[in-house]
Parts: sequence; C-alpha cells; structure tokens
Amino acid sequence: MKIVPLTDEDRVSVRMLELACVREYIEGPMGMKWDDFSQEVRQKLGASASGSFSFYRDQGLSFIAKEGDKVVGFVFGQMVQWIDGIEKAVWLENIGVDKEFRRMGIGFMLLRHLALEGKKKGAQVVHSSVAPNNISSLLLHKKMGFLAEDRKIAYLDLEKYV
Ligand SMILES: CC(C)(COP(=O)(O)OP(=O)(O)OC[C@H]1O[C@@H](n2cnc3c(N)ncnc32)[C@H](O)[C@@H]1OP(=O)(O)O)[C@@H](O)C(=O)NCCC(=O)NCCS
Repeated sequence: MKIVPLTDEDRVSVRMLELACVREYIEGPMGMKWDDFSQEVRQKLGASASGSFSFYRDQGLSFIAKEGDKVVGFVFGQMVQWIDGIEKAVWLENIGVDKEFRRMGIGFMLLRHLALEGKKKGAQVVHSSVAPNNISSLLLHKKMGFLAEDRKIAYLDLEKYV
C-alpha cells in the first residue's frame, strides 16, 4: 500500500470511490435515498466533481492510497490562509476508503499524511467537519487526536440571502 499525490491519472477511479462513499453517507447517517438526487446534483457531489477536482489536485494536499494499481482510499485537503486567528490551517474536505479495505489503517495513514504534509507547508492545525452520527469517521478523528469539544460550524446559505 502506498500513498501518492492526487493526479489526473487516477481521476476516474477516485471519482467512483468518492461517489460510492458519498452515497453510503447519504443512505446511512443522512437517511436519504440516492434516487432522490438528480443526475445534475450527483455530478456536483464531492471534491472530485469536475468543478473542484483541479483545485484540490493543485493545492498539493490531496492524496490517494493505492494497492498495486487500485485506488483504495483518498483524502482531499486545502490550505486556508487565515481562520479562527490562525495563519495557515489545513481544511480536510473529504476522506474515504474502499469498503473492502477498511479497518486496515488506511484512513489513519491518509489523515496522518495530510497532517504532516500540511505541517511541512506551514500549517498549524487541521480543521475538519464531522457528522456526529458518522461513527467510523468520528472514531478515526478521535484516534488521530482531533479535539471536537462543543464546536459546531455555523452555515449561512448565500443563495437565499439578499
Ligand atoms: C471513515 C473511514 C475513512 C475510515 O477509514 P478506515 O481505513 O477504515 O480507518 P482506519 O482503519 O484507519 O481506522 C482508524 C481508527 O478509526 C476507528 N474506526 C474506523 N472505523 C471504525 C469502525 N467502523 N468501527 C470502530 N472504529 C472505527 C478505529 O479507532 C480505528 O483504529 P483501530 O482499527 O486501531 O481500532 C471509512 O470508514 C470510510 O471511508 N467511511 C465512509 C466515508 C466517510 O464517512 N468519510 C468521512 C467523511 S468526513
């Protein structure tokens, strides 16, 4: 198993894996049906969507885990210049591991790789948003040593704000 930077070569495989993870989340913790999402909406889901893939690739903070030639995991991250009074923080956008390869330490390795690469680029912290009912993700963050305390990210939808 190796961890390598995200490149165009693995774009299709990463897209398929991320969409499978997003679908799992929608049908699991979110309790919704995949069929309720139109093709147009599905195309925009995830960091590997056509609008954001190259941004994450070029940030140098997105990585994939490969077993031989097979993409078995991914992590998408970016550097946020100033947040919460901190200069340079890594924002963890999404992480996922192929179902067949879970509980082998791959998610942990990807997250650790992201944190260390972010640190090399000057980041002081890693920020992430974790749904409280996504148990695997919550426990992965806990194992990494993330502090959640009572923090919640507030969200204002600017499409409806005039
Ligand atoms: C969350 C996810 C990325 C974890 O990947 P993974 O490769 O299975 O994680 P690891 O094997 O590295 O697990 C690291 C630690 O997390 C915890 N953990 C992860 N999944 C767990 C589970 N299903 N049950 C209990 N603990 C779990 C454990 O503490 C584990 O350490 P241990 O195996 O030594 O006990 C994976 O479950 C996944 O892809 N889920 C769907 C997508 C998703 O929800 N992504 C998160 C979006 S923020």
